[in-house]
Order: sequence, then C-alpha cells, then structure tokens
Amino acid sequence: MKITIFGTGYVGLVTGACLADVGHQVLCMDVDQAKIDKLENGQIPIYEPGLDAIVRHTVEAGRLAFTTDPRKAVEHGTLQFIAVGTPPDEDGSADLQYVTAVARSIGTYMTDYKVVVDKSTVPVGTGDRVRSAVRAELDHRGLELEFDVVSNPEFLKEGAAINDFMKPDRIVVGTDSERAADLLREVYYPFNRNHDRMIFMDIRSAELTKYAANAMLATKISFMNEVANLAERLGADIEAVRRGIGSDPRIGYHFIYPGCGYGGSCFPKDVQALARTARDCDYEARLLNAVEAVNHAQKHVLFDKISHYFGGNLDGKVVALWGLAFKPNTDDMREASSRNLMEDLWKAGATVQAFDPEAMEETQRIYGDQPGLTLCGTKEQALKNADVLAICTEWKEFRSPDFDVVSAALREPVVFDGRNLYDPDILERHGLIYYAIGRGRNQ
Ligand code: UGA
Repeated sequence: MKITIFGTGYVGLVTGACLADVGHQVLCMDVDQAKIDKLENGQIPIYEPGLDAIVRHTVEAGRLAFTTDPRKAVEHGTLQFIAVGTPPDEDGSADLQYVTAVARSIGTYMTDYKVVVDKSTVPVGTGDRVRSAVRAELDHRGLELEFDVVSNPEFLKEGAAINDFMKPDRIVVGTDSERAADLLREVYYPFNRNHDRMIFMDIRSAELTKYAANAMLATKISFMNEVANLAERLGADIEAVRRGIGSDPRIGYHFIYPGCGYGGSCFPKDVQALARTARDCDYEARLLNAVEAVNHAQKHVLFDKISHYFGGNLDGKVVALWGLAFKPNTDDMREASSRNLMEDLWKAGATVQAFDPEAMEETQRIYGDQPGLTLCGTKEQALKNADVLAICTEWKEFRSPDFDVVSAALREPVVFDGRNLYDPDILERHGLIYYAIGRGRNQ
C-alpha cells in the first residue's frame, strides 16, 4: 500500500521504517530540510537500536523515501499518517499547531480519497478538528472529495521501538468508517497475522485510550515512588515490597520500579495534558495532579540526599554522575531526572563530572559550555577526583562496575543511586556507603 507519514521524529520514523520493512511503499515528509537531507544520506537523527539498519535497507530497496514537499507527500499515500509533535503549551495542554498544519496541507493538495490517520498523541476531540481543517481547505478549493479520519495511537517505547512496533500488544483504531477500517486492517495485516491484536472503537475513545495508558503507567510509578519514600522513613526496603506486591497478578511486576522520577517526552507531557483536558471540561483530575506532583518532587530526591549527606553545604563538591538519558538505550534527555539533579547541584555550588553511554552529544547540545559540567569519556573518568557518585539511568554497563575501583577513586566512598541497581550488602563489603531510593538503612 502507498503510505505517507508526516513527521520523522520517533513515532514517524519508526512507523515509516517498519511499514516499509513489511513491504509498503512509504514516503516520509518533514518540514526540516536538514533532517531530510541526513535521512536521505542514511543518517538517523535519533539513537534507536535496530532503526538504522531497517531505514538503510528499505531505502535501498526503494520502499522508503523522504521529502519536504507537502504536495508530493499528499499525492503519494492513500493513507496519510500524522506523526508530528504535540509539545505542551505553557498551560500543559498539547499544542496542536503542527497537527492542524498537516491536516490543512492534506486538504490543500488531495485530489482523491484519503484516510487521515492520527498517530500523534492528541487530546480527545482532535479527530474532529483534523476533519474540520481538511474540510475547510477542500471547501476553499470548491471540492467535495471524500476522506476519513482515524485515530491510531502509538504505544511504542523508546529504546525498544522496533520490537514494540513489530510485535504490538494491541493496535487501537478509532474510526466511524468501515472503508477506513478495512484499509487499516490491510496495512497492519503483517503485524496481526497470528493473533488479532486490532481493537476498533470510536475516535474519541481511541484518543483517550492513549492518554489513559500513559497516565496509568505514570500513576504506577508515582505510587511506587511515594511508597518508597514512606519505606525509607519506616525502615522498610522498597525492593522487598516491590517483589511482594508484584507477585500479585492483579498488580504485576511491570512499571513498579521506584526511582528518581519518570521522564521522557511522553509521561510528563501526557499526564499534564490529560489533567488540563479534565479542567477544560470542569473536572479536577485529583489523581493525575497528584501523580504529577509526586513525580516533580521525586526528581529532587537524589539532590536532597546528597545535600543532606554534606550537611547542606555542597559548595565546591564534585559529583560524578552516571547516566544522563531519561532511560537506558536512548540518547533522549527530555525531562530526564539527571537534568534536575545537575541543575540543583550547580545552584548549590557543586560541579558535575558526567558520563552516559549515548547521551553525551545531546548533553553537550543542551548545556554547551555550562560552568560546573565536565563531560567524561568513560564512567571511570567521571569518578576521578570526585567526592561522591550519583546514578540517574540504569544502563547495563553500570550494573556491575568494579566496586573497588569506585571506592578507591572517590574522595568519599558514597554512592547515591536513583535506580536501585545494587545489593546494599555487596556495596557494604566493598566499603561503599549506599543511598538508594526507598531502602531502609542509611537513608
Ligand atoms: C512511554 C510508554 O511506556 C509507551 O507505551 C508510550 O508509547 C510512550 O511513552 C509514548 O507515549 O510515546 P517511553 O517514554 O519511551 O514510553 O519510556 P518508558 O519506558 O515508559 O519510561 C518512561 C519513564 O518512566 C522513564 O524515565 C523510566 O525511567 C521511568 N520508569 C519506568 C520508572 O521510573 N519506573 C518504572 O517502573 C518504569
């Protein structure tokens, strides 16, 4: 099938590459000429395991192409996927200017039937806005062409995006058109062959499903972080509690890992946007507000522990920091807890020696020549002459470091772990004082 994707960010590029991989003819459109130039030369603007190989071979096979020309893009696909950004406005609501701009382009250039498929995370009711925007342009051109609007939210995780797309738990399709539903069934047939994963519903329910899924996951995390903070004060160990509750299948082990707060481009933005949507319909979403408030506070917990350890005086202290990305297997720094920690430390007069396996360039781009920040080539270099070590991201290579090297390199043998990577007994045996999240002793 011929498919156009608007937006070559995480969702757009992964969707385009995976649909081309199974044989569809995909044209990806982006307004960013530099990005498209790079993609045409086989350079992938993001770090996502497995994506570059798929992009390369589907481009070589002639099934994936890129353009900045909206007319060409609209002409190409019967299906027009919208996968552009919906950044938060100042009030927390999703900014829909890019989504509606794409809808207008589709209305401006279409000459036959199109299905406009919304993949961006958009507030409930956006389907209607997209429909109106397309129709307004068609009216302007004096045309009465047929089109359908579909909501098809994406549930992929950064770092595991290819696998999530290729083996989805579910494919949610919100539509009021049988014709569009049949086309979506055809597009996704390769991912749906062995087991029917498609869930059809109305457009508004599909839009809300996306927010509900992310808000539920964020709620689990904030809930665990709250219990972790309690565990600390009660002398209990959250890791034991986690295993104890996760074994109940009604609760489950997923997304109950306590830590230094959730980040990324989705959870913080989507929880805020849903709370904002609630307010817009005169409903105060108390639980969502609390989820957000707990997370906000959690992002400062590591700093509080470090500050407390040094009796509130961090002036001139050097903190080694392992992990900058908001989670492992990505170079994405959006809403990363490391940023709150670094910024808190700088404000308090401390300096940071940081290392991340993938996010060094991104950190450089964001913080440039920030005084008080040294970017180090290895995790060991980050330790040199540092007072203490802090950890914000659970990259595999941090899971089993040579603890004697850590202990010997630090001026004070103290580890502040925002991801609960270690066994406190092992660290103690290596002479390290260990502060983690929600673990009774030492806290
Ligand atoms: C999230 C969802 O998991 C995806 O299903 C969804 O499609 C995506 O948002 C989106 O809306 O596009 P992502 O933001 O890539 O995916 O990352 P997650 O793996 O969900 O992690 C989010 C944050 O939660 C990270 O900062 C992570 O460290 C934190 N987290 C996760 C915890 O603190 N504890 C956990 O138990 C799990």
